[in-house]
Amino acid sequence: MESKRVNILGIETSCDETAAAVVADGREVRSSVVASQNKLHEKYGGVVPEIASRAHIEKIYPVISEAMERAAVGQDDLDAVAVANQPGLTIALVVGVTAAKTLSFMWGKPLIAINHLHAHLQSALLSDEKLELPAVALIVSGGHTCLYQADSPLELRLLGSTIDDAAGEAFDKVATILKLPYPGGPNIERIAKQGNPKAVDFPRSMLGRDSLDFSFSGLKTAVLYYCRGQDMEGSDRVDSMSEQEIADIAASFQAAVIDVLVRKTKRAADRVGARTVLLGGGVAANGTLREAMQEMCQKGRPPRRLLVAPKQYCTDNAVMVASLAYHKYRAGLFAPLTLEPSANG
Ligand code: KG4
Ligand code: ZN
Repeated sequence: MESKRVNILGIETSCDETAAAVVADGREVRSSVVASQNKLHEKYGGVVPEIASRAHIEKIYPVISEAMERAAVGQDDLDAVAVANQPGLTIALVVGVTAAKTLSFMWGKPLIAINHLHAHLQSALLSDEKLELPAVALIVSGGHTCLYQADSPLELRLLGSTIDDAAGEAFDKVATILKLPYPGGPNIERIAKQGNPKAVDFPRSMLGRDSLDFSFSGLKTAVLYYCRGQDMEGSDRVDSMSEQEIADIAASFQAAVIDVLVRKTKRAADRVGARTVLLGGGVAANGTLREAMQEMCQKGRPPRRLLVAPKQYCTDNAVMVASLAYHKYRAGLFAPLTLEPSANG
């Protein structure tokens, strides 16, 4: 293997995906392996931390070995081992962190600690790294909804975040209300295609004229009341609803979330005079959100450039971890072997 390239092994275990990837020079994906635990959590309607942790322990070494095999690299070809150590479920993160520390020590390779949210943002830079500044970034995932000003992959300033539910969490909870399978986001998107987004006028919480924070719990409650009645004493109407009615609710809910996400991103972009908008995180896989964000950027004066994560790198993966780690490697930002996981970002 050519010696000039920087090959980094990335490891990701922050929630319910066990993932490993080898990326060269931050851009060239040599392998990406993701073991999803969706089947294990499906019957609970959400991620059960203990089950996630145990599944990570079972999968971590097979997943890392497969990533290295597929990339055709051995330990000597690697320049560093990177791991997402925050934010996430501590008992899930600790599995990846322990594996990364062990390999780093055994192989004598530097260890790089990665913030999972910042890595989501990095996946928006995979298709094109030219970041015309100023730039704002919206990260929408199952656990977080954050707006940043991004001056470089390593220089992010938080502009706003959710004060209650994350956007993906709202998708998942509304899917549960509508009795759709977990994970909710892709299933809501699928049935919303058959629905009318104007059928129900669900609330859009903008939290005041200047706020860049988000709130989705009121919207989730509005869907619940719509299905169960204001006093929650009426019968659950979902079982007796037609497929069309459920599709209309899903489409109307999705439209409300997207409306808020796009308007807040525009607000942030206007405020900083952004020339580029970055979009990443699991909810960024949603085609309607991608289109709405594109339209908002095109209508900007002057038009803004939208850089959005490729769909397969929107949900959790280790390519984004290894890709961001390249920038830390170049900057000499290494972690000690005492690295710990942290639930908060
Ligand atoms: O980034 P991610 O894989 O994990 C976290 O870091 O949380 O995001 C997972 C979230 C879940 O809430 C899932 O329902 C949502 O992303 N999601 C979607 C779509 N695909 C995944 N939400 C809306 N539309 C989608 N197509
Ligand atoms: Zn994530």
